[in-house]
Amino acid sequence: MPKFLAYQTLNKLKTPAQTLAVDAVHLISNFTKMNIGILGSGVVGQALAGALIKNGHYVQMGSRTSKNEKTVAWAKGAGEYASAGSFNEAALFGDLIIICLNGEYTLEAVHSIDAENVRNKIVIDLTNPLDFSSGMPPSILEGLGNTTSLGEKVQEALPGAFVVKTLNTINYKLMVDARLVNNGDHNLFLCGNYPDSKNKVMHFLVDNFHWKASSLIDLGGMEAARAVEAIVPFWVLVYRKLDTPMFNFKIVQ
Ligand SMILES: NC(=O)c1ccc[n+]([C@@H]2O[C@H](COP(=O)([O-])OP(=O)(O)OC[C@H]3O[C@@H](n4cnc5c(N)ncnc54)[C@H](OP(=O)(O)O)[C@@H]3O)[C@@H](O)[C@H]2O)c1
Repeated sequence: MPKFLAYQTLNKLKTPAQTLAVDAVHLISNFTKMNIGILGSGVVGQALAGALIKNGHYVQMGSRTSKNEKTVAWAKGAGEYASAGSFNEAALFGDLIIICLNGEYTLEAVHSIDAENVRNKIVIDLTNPLDFSSGMPPSILEGLGNTTSLGEKVQEALPGAFVVKTLNTINYKLMVDARLVNNGDHNLFLCGNYPDSKNKVMHFLVDNFHWKASSLIDLGGMEAARAVEAIVPFWVLVYRKLDTPMFNFKIVQ
């Protein structure tokens, strides 16, 4: 079944109440303004936080300390919908959590939060386990490829949460506005162990970041994160060749 049909069908079949019943999580939609916890203060966290505040969501940006100068300054400048906290505080704050942490320290940071703070919540993981220690292109961090992945490790660390891996294969500007390349005609991959949560994340991407539902490809369970994380060194090679990060993969049949 074409992906868009699948998306429409799911929309028709599931009322919000039915959708909620499946995973017992909050409905993700443009019509529901949410509290969103962004774990990460880098360019990705800042881009997502800015775009989500523009869309009317409340956003807390988490850092190693709640008094991080960068996040406190960001919150001050971003208005009344913005706040700064620690990773743990942002996890507690969010109905939806987005993990935008440095790949090398993601697991350390995720283990530092109280897993109860994300119980029954959707967690989007867009991190990449990249090792830049031998220069460019990066390789995959030892122990986080082939037989496992950051996505799987994040899900293991947060067993009560519904982790969805996505957005890790594109530049941060494109994450928040898919129209910036080829009028939005290109693909984004998702994987995770909870179909209903993946469906909600698809709604969220369509409603907030101009992704076409037909562009979203569900690759199955979280073990697919091994492949979508491993493609990123190839993305870096293409980036160096094209000299711009504004491109993406498009799957044709
Ligand atoms: N750049 C892109 O376009 C792009 C695209 C797709 C995916 N990604 C992925 O997105 C993630 C975020 O990338 P980014 O460039 O925005 O940020 P980044 O510089 O890779 O990471 C920033 C975050 O990592 C935290 N961090 C750094 N060292 C740490 C440590 N020792 N312990 C705990 N936390 C630590 C920082 O904490 P503090 O807030 O306390 O400083 C900060 O919140 C990465 O996994 C990257 O691969 C990036």
